[in-house]
Amino acid sequence: MKDNRIQFQKYAARNEQLAAQYNKAYFEKQHKKGKLTARERVEILFDEESFEEIDAYVKPAGDIVTNIYGDGVICGHGKINGRKVFAYAQDFTFMGGSLGSVHADKIMKVQDMALSMGHPIIGLIDSGGARIQDGVASLAGYAGIFHRNVKSSGVIPQISVILGPAAGGAVYSPALTDFVFMCRHTAYMFVTGPDVVKEVLNEEISSENLGGADIHGSKSGVAQFVYDDEEHTLLGVRKLLQYLPSNNVDMPPLSKQEAVAPENPANLSVLIPEEANIPYDMLDILKNLVDKNSFFEVAEDFAANIIIGFARLQNKVLGIVANQPKVLAGVLDINSSEKAARFVRFCDAFNIPILVLEDVPGFLPGSHQEHVGIIRRGAKLLYAFSEASVPKITVIVRKAYGGAYIVMNSKNMGGDFNFAWPTAEIAVMGPEGAVKILNRKELATSDDAEALKLKLISEYKENIANPYIADEKGYIDEVIDPLYTRKKLISAFEALENKFMEKNAKKHGNMPL
Ligand code: HXC
Repeated sequence: MKDNRIQFQKYAARNEQLAAQYNKAYFEKQHKKGKLTARERVEILFDEESFEEIDAYVKPAGDIVTNIYGDGVICGHGKINGRKVFAYAQDFTFMGGSLGSVHADKIMKVQDMALSMGHPIIGLIDSGGARIQDGVASLAGYAGIFHRNVKSSGVIPQISVILGPAAGGAVYSPALTDFVFMCRHTAYMFVTGPDVVKEVLNEEISSENLGGADIHGSKSGVAQFVYDDEEHTLLGVRKLLQYLPSNNVDMPPLSKQEAVAPENPANLSVLIPEEANIPYDMLDILKNLVDKNSFFEVAEDFAANIIIGFARLQNKVLGIVANQPKVLAGVLDINSSEKAARFVRFCDAFNIPILVLEDVPGFLPGSHQEHVGIIRRGAKLLYAFSEASVPKITVIVRKAYGGAYIVMNSKNMGGDFNFAWPTAEIAVMGPEGAVKILNRKELATSDDAEALKLKLISEYKENIANPYIADEKGYIDEVIDPLYTRKKLISAFEALENKFMEKNAKKHGNMPL
C-alpha cells in the first residue's frame, strides 16, 4: 500500500524526476553518435539487476543551474560473474561527461570505497576532460583521482574502458590502471588533440589516426583490449575479471566449469620444426598445455613477438609469458620487454603464478634499438621477473640464448622450476655467431670455408647448444618429454602452492622505469 506521508511523497517525486531524466531524448543523444548511454553500459557490464547506484541525486557545483541529477557520472557497485565490483560511468549527455568538481568527488568516493573494501574498480570513460567552467577545481579533481589510482595500484585490480573521448589529463587515470579497453571508431585518447597538433606541428591528423583504438592497441601499447562495439568491449571486461582476484590478499577465482585437458597433447612432440630457423606458432604449444579454451590473450596486437595472457591449468589461473617465434623470431626488443615486464608485475601483485614458455634467439640488435634504450627497457623485464615472488616456472622449448636466456626467468634469477625440452638450445649465442667468433682463423684459411662452417655448427649444436649441459649443472631441473609437460607443470605448480612469498623490508626498489 502506498504511504502518503509527506516524506514519502517527496521521496517518490525525486525518484520520478530522476527516472524522467532518462527519457527518449537522453538515449537518442548518445545513440546518434553511435554510442550507448552510461546507463545501458552499466546494464551490460553488471550481472542482471545487481547494480546499486550511489550519489544519484547530486548536482554540479558553482554557477551551473540544472534540473538534472548526477553531475554527469553514474557511480555504484554491483556484481560481475557473481563477485562484487565498483564502477563509475561518465555520462556524455551531461556537459560532455566533463569532470567537474562534484563529478570528481563522486568518482573519488567509489575509488575510496573499492580500495577500503577490497573490490576491483572499473571506470567507463566518455568525457570532454576537465570541466572548463569549474576551472582549477576540476584539475584538483583529476589530481585526486590519479592519487587514488596510485594508492590502489597493486591492491585492487583497476580497469579503464574508453568508450568516447579521453583527452588531455583525462588519459592519465587510464594509464595508471592495470588494463585499458577501447572500442573501435568511437573511443580515442590523446594528450593533445588534432587541433593542437595542427597548430604546433602543422600536421593534419584525424582523431582516429592520432589516438583511436587500433593505434593504442597496436602502436602505443596504451590499450590492451580492442573490440568492434561497446557490447563486446564490456563483455570483454567481464571475461577478464574471471581471471582476477578481488584484491592483493585474495587468490584468483577457480572456474565454475570443470577443467578439460587439451585434446591432442601428442601434438607437442611434433610442433617444433627440425630446422632451428623455421618459425612456428607458440600459441599451438600453449593451447596444447593449458585447460581447453582457457587462454585469454592480453595486448594481442602490440609487440606480438611476445605473448602475454591468462590461462588455467587444472582450473587454477596462471599468467603466461611466451616468446612468439612467428613474429621477429621471438626476439626481445623494447616493446616486448616492457609489455611482458608490466604483466609480470601485475601477476606478482595479484598472486597469479607465472608460466614462461621460452624460445628466444636474444635481444634485437641494431642502432635503432640501442638508441631507443634496449638496455634500460630490457632491464625492466629482468627486474620484474627477478623481483616477482609468486610461483614462477619456465619451460625452454627451443632457443634460450645469451642475455635473453637469463631474462626469461632463468634458474639463477629465481625461477622455481626450470624445465627444458630435448629440442632446447641453451648457450651464450647461436651456432652461426659462435662459430664465426671461435673459429675465425680456421675459417679464413680453409679451402672450403662453407663445408667447415657447417661441420663446426653441427659440432656446436651437438656439444654446446643443447639442454644437457645446463641440466648437468642444475640450471635446468629436468629435461622433459614434451608429451608429459602438462603433467609436470600441474605437479610443479602444486608443489608451489605453499611457496613462502617473501616481503622486503625496504620501502621499494628503484626499477629502471
Ligand atoms: C565543459 C564541455 C567540455 C569541457 C565538452 N563539453 N567538453 N563542457 N568542459 N571540457 C560540452 C560541450 O560544450 C557540449 O555542450 C557538450 O559537452 C558536448 O560536446 P560537443 O563538443 O558538442 O560534442 P562532440 O562534437 O562530440 O565533441 C566532443 C569533444 C569536444 C571532442 C570532447 O567537446 C571537445 O573538444 N571538448 C573539449 C576537450 C578538451 O580540450 N578538454 C579539456 C582537456 S584539458 P552543449 O551544451 O553544447 O551540449 C584537461 C586537463 C586535465 O582535461 C588535466 C588533469 C591533470
